[in-house]
Amino acid sequence: MGVAGMDDDGEVALAGWLDDEERARAARFHFARHRRIYIAAHALLRAWLGRRLGLAPTVLRFTAGARGKPDLAPSQMPLTPDGRPALRFNLSHTAGMVAIAVTADPETAVIDLGVDVEAADRLGDYDARIARGFFAEDEAAALEALPDAADRARRFLTLWTLKESVIKATGAGLSQALSGFSIRFPAGWPGPGLLPDIEARDPPLAQGLAWHLMHQDYDGMHLAAGLLCQATLPPPHWRITPMTPARLLSGATP
Ligand SMILES: CC(C)(COP(=O)(O)OP(=O)(O)OC[C@H]1O[C@@H](n2cnc3c(N)ncnc32)[C@H](O)[C@@H]1OP(=O)(O)O)[C@@H](O)C(=O)NCCC(=O)NCCS
Repeated sequence: MGVAGMDDDGEVALAGWLDDEERARAARFHFARHRRIYIAAHALLRAWLGRRLGLAPTVLRFTAGARGKPDLAPSQMPLTPDGRPALRFNLSHTAGMVAIAVTADPETAVIDLGVDVEAADRLGDYDARIARGFFAEDEAAALEALPDAADRARRFLTLWTLKESVIKATGAGLSQALSGFSIRFPAGWPGPGLLPDIEARDPPLAQGLAWHLMHQDYDGMHLAAGLLCQATLPPPHWRITPMTPARLLSGATP
């Protein structure tokens, strides 16, 4: 959801959907643009989850994992027939954009998911030393082997976004070494139907489960999602639903 069109009235209205803790956190942002993004993100998440659960956005309650990954309070979490959480979600924000990933009903193959959105104007961030310092060796080498500087910058940001989505899916965040797994791109990438692949070496990432990765240029942004799924089930489908703060306030749900 782009937040460029969100005015003061919109911010106040959407802040009314948050709980006291979220409003207190929003009030602590130094810059209004950061506060606005935070409020928009949490209101959108509440609207989306509320719709899925048949609950008003305001009544949702959240908990957080050991490293801060938000989840629904156990009393509100629907379960799969085998007792796992049936609704997985994650959110990401960057300048001017909020991205929420939510599993679709009745998707039960997804164990967990992560999402990351980065502004494409961060393309200038490519630095071979950063890639060598943080990414897996083969990823850094593949980047350096790209002959065109613009392609290297684009691939760097694509990789960054995808890798963030993976460490957010497990909930480990930056405590998970980015070099502990490699993301590889098929020949012809980016092209229709082509998806990146992952080799997960560090134990928390693999464990007999299957990863499905998605990356897309969207509205001047890089958008990536990583899904950790039961290996025995077919890969899930992706769908991106555009949203605006005005539509959200008018009752439209994603
Ligand atoms: C998760 C993390 C990678 C996000 O980085 P980022 O690119 O700056 O931020 P994004 O906009 O993509 O995502 C932020 C959102 O991810 C979610 N999030 C927070 N921690 C998360 C985690 N461990 N895993 C997945 N998602 C997480 C939150 O919803 C957060 O939004 P909010 O602050 O508005 O609630 C990074 O903050 C991190 O590694 N955190 C872990 C910190 C930690 O280890 N803490 C230990 C003590 S609690």
